Amino acid sequence: MTVIENSKVTVVGAGSVGSSTAYAALIRGSARHVALYDIATEKVEAEVLDLAHGTQFTGTSDITGGSDISVVEGSHVVVITAGAKQHPGQTRIELAGTNAGILGSMMPQLLEVAPNAIYVIVTNPCDVLTVLAQESTGLPTERIFASGTVLDTSRLRWKLAQRAGVSTSSVHAYIVGEHGDTEFPLWSKATIGTVPILDWVTPRGDRMTVEELDSIAVDVRDAAYKVIQGKGATNYAIGLSSARIIEAILKDEHAVMPVSPVLQGFHGIDGVALSVPSVVSAAGARPVIETAFAPNELELLHRSAEALKGVADSLR
Ligand code: LAC
Repeated sequence: MTVIENSKVTVVGAGSVGSSTAYAALIRGSARHVALYDIATEKVEAEVLDLAHGTQFTGTSDITGGSDISVVEGSHVVVITAGAKQHPGQTRIELAGTNAGILGSMMPQLLEVAPNAIYVIVTNPCDVLTVLAQESTGLPTERIFASGTVLDTSRLRWKLAQRAGVSTSSVHAYIVGEHGDTEFPLWSKATIGTVPILDWVTPRGDRMTVEELDSIAVDVRDAAYKVIQGKGATNYAIGLSSARIIEAILKDEHAVMPVSPVLQGFHGIDGVALSVPSVVSAAGARPVIETAFAPNELELLHRSAEALKGVADSLR
């Protein structure tokens, strides 16, 4: 396995998602150098100091940052978290106009200093922002993608693991589609170990029903609303998800993850960024075209694509 030497990730945006991403990347040792960039000088400098003060205890000890764009120079990966955040009751899509403007003005500057980086868009609505940024920059679709439903998939696996009485890593299930209200699980391929999900006997001695799985899917879809209602933002789990994506790129892992690149002829979908199982490596993200969908899942995927296409069209 080739590993990028002297690897550097820059996290753009020192809000709660950006700082948590940097924190997770430091603890996990996702990159050799972690940098944090934000236009708010005082805030970013304080976050960098706070992170640096803990580096005796982290996997990576190199954290720098500030409000000068030169912070981003030499990055192999740039993770974008800057932008307006969801308020209680607000959908991710409602942030589209504001955050498309912010990203649109930032991308040219970032590309100037980090022309060869892989770009990971976390700012919401991440799928819509990815397609707009890919189009405006002309970057190859492999090199710019959204964190998408990596987080939602982790939420799903946690819930299923609890119910099945196994570790999260033994749950093989994916949430795909929009990172948002039209997302859905690929139940037809979900297994615990090798056992199809509906056949698994839980510690209670019963099996999960289709109705129960449907209700778990709704909980996962609405999970961020619940967290935002209670604490005003989600940050830890998205930070960890982003760190996991960073290391899959920097360690050239070829890990299959549900990130969201602009699809080109994926089961008839073109020009929309949607999460589908994709191979994540130093080259970026490549959708696994052989992924099989049950007929109802394919319909849901197309519905997700249509919804996002409409939003992107309204912003072009
Ligand atoms: C969430 C935000 C990051 O799902 O969209 O937590």
